[in-house]
Amino acid sequence: MGIHLGKVMVVFGTRPEAIKMAPVINELKMEEDINTIVAVTAQHRDMLDQVLNLFNIKPDYDLNLMKQQQDLYSVTSEVLTGMKEILEKEKPSLVLVHGDTTTTFAAALAAFYQKIPVGHVEAGLRTKNKYSPFPEEMNRTLTGKLAELHFAPTDTSRENLLREAAANFKIWVTGNTVIDALLTTIKDDYQFPKELSKINFNNRILLVTTHRRENWGEKMRQIYGALIDLVEEFTDIEVVFPVHKNPIVKDIAHEMLGDKERIHLIEPLDYEPFANLMNASHIILTDSGGMQEEAPSLGKPVLVLRDTTERPEAVEAGTVKLTGTVHEHIYNDTKQLLTNTQEYEKMAKAINPYGDGKAAKRIIKTIKEFLYVRIGNLN
Ligand code: UD1
Ligand code: UDP
Repeated sequence: MGIHLGKVMVVFGTRPEAIKMAPVINELKMEEDINTIVAVTAQHRDMLDQVLNLFNIKPDYDLNLMKQQQDLYSVTSEVLTGMKEILEKEKPSLVLVHGDTTTTFAAALAAFYQKIPVGHVEAGLRTKNKYSPFPEEMNRTLTGKLAELHFAPTDTSRENLLREAAANFKIWVTGNTVIDALLTTIKDDYQFPKELSKINFNNRILLVTTHRRENWGEKMRQIYGALIDLVEEFTDIEVVFPVHKNPIVKDIAHEMLGDKERIHLIEPLDYEPFANLMNASHIILTDSGGMQEEAPSLGKPVLVLRDTTERPEAVEAGTVKLTGTVHEHIYNDTKQLLTNTQEYEKMAKAINPYGDGKAAKRIIKTIKEFLYVRIGNLN
């Protein structure tokens, strides 16, 4: 064992942050010279716990702050004040945050107020439209301003950061840790759990998820309307839709799709069945960020139900299409993939712009170097 390098605190709160931080935590825990502390805000409760259980992560701190229909003000202020005491008590050498949620930004701000350096995992993605995705574009940009170490998944995200950087940013291109998580979760002989027994896997599966704030209301109605038309026209498709826990999403989804044949509205799935369901799907329709990164490496065409994306790499490679939220466009783009084999094959190619499954290892290597230098400077 070498010199003790110090304490690293990993802070996160929602499902996607947990999935993408799990490989980082598991790598950190293998380092005997680093004391790893996990603090969760539980901005999500159930959907966070699903991931913690799967990856066997036991938080040292849990702010347990989720409320039904919480708003941005309450989440921001509760993360900020909740993290104050934890940081004062633990005094970590580095705080690691992930991505673009309100937990990410408020936890980075809390660390900044105590002059604790912040490492930003999944740094530098940009749409350059501050209201889309909202509030994530601004959360990620502001976290970038606060952070000391920037772990950019791709060259494009690195370039975004370089363009904005007033001072010399410390940026490492690492790949996205979501691919680390995905590769350990996909199984060739995966057996789906009983809750999916109603799905006829002989049909073509359209996997759907929606949750983005800017899609709440009319845009979601347009999306769901297109799904209704599609199942009516194509009798060999099944829509599988694990509905986000947010009541705003749930209510519209159940009202419009609750009683439709071959549309399965189900609870959010654990990551393992979900990832394997992506792998068994024919087409993915989603407004999710993470799924735009996962699906291309599985060779699944993705129609993105958003007007902007901060993940242009797979769009440029042709496996992801920015379809938007207009009923007719969603219907037309999906119909084309269902009827035109050539178009389908063009999109259904496995590409990996987001990583090789070793992102967490690269991040840990940099963290260790940072901690070594820090100790040297302290002595
Ligand atoms: C949050 C993030 C978004 C991320 C998404 C991933 C912000 C502002 N938004 O959005 O960036 O893409 O998570 O899913 O940080 N709920 C439950 N149980 C859960 C989770 C949520 O009941 O396990 C319900 C609650 O009523 C909660 C509501 O969903 O109030 C909204 O959760 P919130 O985290 O505020 O927003 P998301 O839309 O999930
Ligand atoms: N996911 C999951 N179960 C589900 C739906 C999604 O485990 O029922 C995973 C998905 O594979 C991806 C992540 O959750 O890794 C994406 O989360 P979400 O779409 O909520 O957030 P975003 O990525 O848009 O921030």
